[in-house]
Amino acid sequence: MEFALNEEQELFRKSARDFAQKEIEPLADKLDKEHIFPIENLKKLGELGYLGMTVPEEYNGTGAGALNYAIVMEEISRACASTGTSVSVQNSLVNDIFVKSASELQKKKYLTKLATGEWIGAFGLSEAESGSDAGGMKTQAVKKGSDYVLNGSKMWITNAGFADIFMVFASTDPAAGNRGVSCFIVEKGTPGFSLGKEEDKLGIRGTSTCELHFSNCRIPAENLVGAESQGFKIALATLNGGRVGIAAQALGIAQAGLDAALAYAVERKAFGKPIAELQAIQFKLADMKTKVDAARLLTYRAGWMKDQGVDYVQEASIAKLYASEIASEVTDEAIQIHGGYGYVRDYKVERLYRDARITRIYEGTSEIQKLVIARHLLSGR
Ligand code: CAA
Repeated sequence: MEFALNEEQELFRKSARDFAQKEIEPLADKLDKEHIFPIENLKKLGELGYLGMTVPEEYNGTGAGALNYAIVMEEISRACASTGTSVSVQNSLVNDIFVKSASELQKKKYLTKLATGEWIGAFGLSEAESGSDAGGMKTQAVKKGSDYVLNGSKMWITNAGFADIFMVFASTDPAAGNRGVSCFIVEKGTPGFSLGKEEDKLGIRGTSTCELHFSNCRIPAENLVGAESQGFKIALATLNGGRVGIAAQALGIAQAGLDAALAYAVERKAFGKPIAELQAIQFKLADMKTKVDAARLLTYRAGWMKDQGVDYVQEASIAKLYASEIASEVTDEAIQIHGGYGYVRDYKVERLYRDARITRIYEGTSEIQKLVIARHLLSGR
């Protein structure tokens, strides 16, 4: 068993950290406060290959794999969780569908542009009345001649405000429930497709989150991904990989909380000495470090398993569950160490605490991760 990163993985970490600390971190506060999106940085991240990390080189990706992707996601999210969210959606939820399920024609037409960041993608699964129960969607796609006609709405769709391509899940056979769901590619600007309101969120405020509306929206049948009725499995298989990305995001946020708390504890004096010399603070820092390290090991294990081509579904959920829970705990303690300063917007731990919260909700709540883990346990794995 080898716990150290190899030379290539260290290089990924160093390059991503250098770029993230220089170009991404300085913008994080502004994105949060002004609720603007990191479009320019996303383009730069695309040029550096960070938007096509699990895409084979023949489609303009880097083919770097899931573990390297987790390492990069951690560094980007440590600098700015909002930017991390957009990077995660592109890599895990959009590109991955093309890699695993799209036709050669679809890969050439879309994936080659997504992998470089020329186009940005979004993933449209959730609806007002189906979040955790993803199979309970109401959006329908009806085949008419050589088109499908889409009607319905999607909710909480990340990247929507600036995406070019939307992976949309709709029911082609409502009577079949989740076994009647299909996956479609919808291009921005398609008649009958419009964006709804931009959500005003607690955290990751530098991301665009909108509703999608489809009203007799005709899309060519060639934009069906995989076969009809395969969509639910495509969505769940995609979310397995996505959970490794969100675990890495949560890990990056937690690490940023620890970084900030440590720096503050060394700087801030109370009772005549830096508070880092107080045992009460040392205990907190030690607990935070232990949790961050444990989350990193679980996250890297899940990424490594995905790269090995073995079943990693349970491990992805374990990593996502644990990393997202400790991201809230660690950033909460970071605020506690800052005292009153931690509660105001001048110090970044306040933002980190808000950003951490979403990781327990999207790409499956903590409760959904527990369901996945328990199902595996009970099935004998
Ligand atoms: N991976 C691959 N296939 C899976 C799977 C998995 N993790 N879990 C189930 N499946 C397969 C099953 O084998 C089954 O296949 P068959 O039809 O051949 O039997 C099929 O999918 C249906 O499985 P279930 O009957 O178990 O499905 P279910 O309706 O009970 O749902 C669930 C299971 C775990 C609750 C699932 O619905 C789920 O994961 N829900 C959470 C959805 C989610 O994560 N939403 C996040 C929204 S996207 C987002 O957040 C993006 C963003 O903004 C960044």
